[in-house]
Amino acid sequence: MRIAVTGGLGRIGRAAVAELAGHGFETVQVDVAPMREQSPGYRRADLRELWQAMDALDGVDAVVHLAATGVPDSHTLHPELAEGATYTANSTSTYNVFQAAAVHGIQRVVWASSETVLGPPFRIDGPAHLPLDETHPVRPETSYALSKATAEGVARHFAHRCAMTLVALRFSVVMDGTEYAALPEYWADPERGWWNLWSYVDLADVAVSCRLALTAELVGATALTVAAPDTLSNRPTAELLDAFCPAVKVTRPLGTFESLQCSAKARELLGWRPARSWRDTFAG
Ligand SMILES: NC(=O)c1ccc[n+]([C@@H]2O[C@H](COP(=O)([O-])OP(=O)(O)OC[C@H]3O[C@@H](n4cnc5c(N)ncnc54)[C@H](O)[C@@H]3O)[C@@H](O)[C@H]2O)c1
Repeated sequence: MRIAVTGGLGRIGRAAVAELAGHGFETVQVDVAPMREQSPGYRRADLRELWQAMDALDGVDAVVHLAATGVPDSHTLHPELAEGATYTANSTSTYNVFQAAAVHGIQRVVWASSETVLGPPFRIDGPAHLPLDETHPVRPETSYALSKATAEGVARHFAHRCAMTLVALRFSVVMDGTEYAALPEYWADPERGWWNLWSYVDLADVAVSCRLALTAELVGATALTVAAPDTLSNRPTAELLDAFCPAVKVTRPLGTFESLQCSAKARELLGWRPARSWRDTFAG
């Protein structure tokens, strides 16, 4: 099975390519960034152009779409311009990838949405309930989050119009083993983690979620939370709730350090079982 990984030279893209290659998939890395070394598995494309997306997806069986621009640069003179550029780039690229897949008859697209569609950084409204899950209202607060929420709507359109299967993975903040050593600094100020409910997910587990979503028995458009089962905090979850959001409805009992983002649906539908925690770094 030949998989196009868009954003294939990015952080998650490289991990996804390695994960897929390790499980017998052939991969094509699609990216606007140039690749230094020659590689038959690399196709340069700016996905903001439909024709480039169509060329890039020619001859592949499925797509893992990860290409995107991140949060707008807060140092620009007119932040609204950067916000507009983020929204337009991500919405257009994702539409183009879905459309190109439809044109080529590609049935399965796995793609990166984001935890932010549900409200982080919660500057306007707090969470409607906790833990955050797929029943929580979608209410993006930034142009980046809006681009992901828009793309979830576009995914439903392609599922409806072209009978495609599109799996949106709502990643939490992606971290890897090199970053966990800095956590004691983060713990010193628990307010730092409130914006996304002290949530994270390990890079290797994210790559596994991409692979599982390619073959899971699903139809139509599905959106799934992809977060580690524990928080990044060294404080019990009940303590964090009391300190930062005592009035928010908690829908079920939570474990001592349990995450406030619930990935039970990804576990059920993909068989995804995150295996890595920052706690492994500090154990022993
Ligand atoms: N890293 C996180 O914590 C996180 C959290 C939630 C969601 N996500 C999403 O996961 C995906 C991958 O994130 P990442 O951390 O690997 O980002 P990254 O910035 O490391 O990689 C993104 C890649 O996409 C490429 N790209 C950007 N615009 C493109 C375009 N127009 N055409 C072709 N390629 C383009 C870039 O060159 C880059 O290689 C993104 O969609 C991101 O929004 C990331």
